[in-house]
Amino acid sequence: MTPSANSRPVALITGASRGIGHAIALRLAPTHDLALVARDASRLADVARECEVLGASVQCIAADVQNGLMTAQRLDGLHVDVLVNNAGVAVMKPFLEMTAEEWHRQVDVNVNALFHVTRAVLPGMVARGRGHVCIIGSTAGRNTFVGGTCYAGTKHFVMGFAESLMLEVRDAGVGVSVITPGSVDTDLFPAGTNRTWMLEPKNVADAVGFAIEAPAHMLVHRLEVRPLSPKRPRAS
Ligand SMILES: NC(=O)c1ccc[n+]([C@@H]2O[C@H](COP(=O)([O-])OP(=O)(O)OC[C@H]3O[C@@H](n4cnc5c(N)ncnc54)[C@H](OP(=O)(O)O)[C@@H]3O)[C@@H](O)[C@H]2O)c1
Repeated sequence: MTPSANSRPVALITGASRGIGHAIALRLAPTHDLALVARDASRLADVARECEVLGASVQCIAADVQNGLMTAQRLDGLHVDVLVNNAGVAVMKPFLEMTAEEWHRQVDVNVNALFHVTRAVLPGMVARGRGHVCIIGSTAGRNTFVGGTCYAGTKHFVMGFAESLMLEVRDAGVGVSVITPGSVDTDLFPAGTNRTWMLEPKNVADAVGFAIEAPAHMLVHRLEVRPLSPKRPRAS
C-alpha cells in the first residue's frame, strides 16, 4: 500500500482479526486506510469488508508475527503512518504447570513480534520525520498476579520497550504510545469466564484514537483504561 500525496494516512494493525484489534480497525476506518495483519485470512477478510463500508481502503496481510522472516517479507515496502502493535496471547496458569510451548508462544507474540513488526515499518516513519507507534500493553505490565509469570512478564517488557523507543525516536518526529487496558471482553479469556463487567473492545479502540489523534506537539505516551468495577456489570 503506497499512498499518493493526497490520500489518507495508513494504519497497520496487528491482531486485527478479532477482539481489540478488530475494534481498532473499525475505529480508524473512517479516517485511515488500513493494513490488517493476523493469521486467520477469512476473519481478516470479514473485518476488511466492515472497514471498507466505513470508507477505508484495506489490505489484508495474513501472517504469523511469531515468524520474523515471514513478517519482514510481508511488510516489506509498506508505507505505514500509524502502527498499532496489538497482537497478543495469554496463557495464565502457574509457572510449574506451563509448557515450554505456552511460554515461548507468549514471548514470541507479545515480545519478539514487537521487534519483527516495528523493525519493518519504523525506518520509513523516521525517514519521513513523522509517524506513530502504538502498543497495546496491559495493567499486567505494572502488576503481578498468580498465574502471570509469563504474561505479566511480557507486558512488563512492553512498558520498558515502549518508553525506551519513545525516547529514541521522538526527536525524529515519531511518537510512541502504550495503552494499558484492564480486563476487556474478548476471547483472550477462557470459555466460561464472566466478562459482563469488563471493558468493551471499542473502549480500548477509543483510547488508541485519543492517543494518535492528539495534537502533533503533544504525546500521549501512557494511557490506562479500566472497567469501573468487577462488581458492576456493564450497563450496555
Ligand atoms: N482482553 C483483555 O482483557 C486484555 C487486557 C489488556 C491487554 N490486552 C492485550 O490486547 C491485545 C489484543 O488482545 P485481545 O483481547 O483482543 O485478544 P484476542 O481476542 O484473543 O485477539 C488476539 C489477536 O491477536 C492475533 N494473534 C495471535 N497470535 C498471532 C500470531 N502468532 N500472529 C498474528 N496474529 C496473532 C489473533 O489473530 P489470529 O488468531 O487470526 O492470528 C487476534 O486477532 C493483546 O496484546 C492483549 O495482551 C488484552
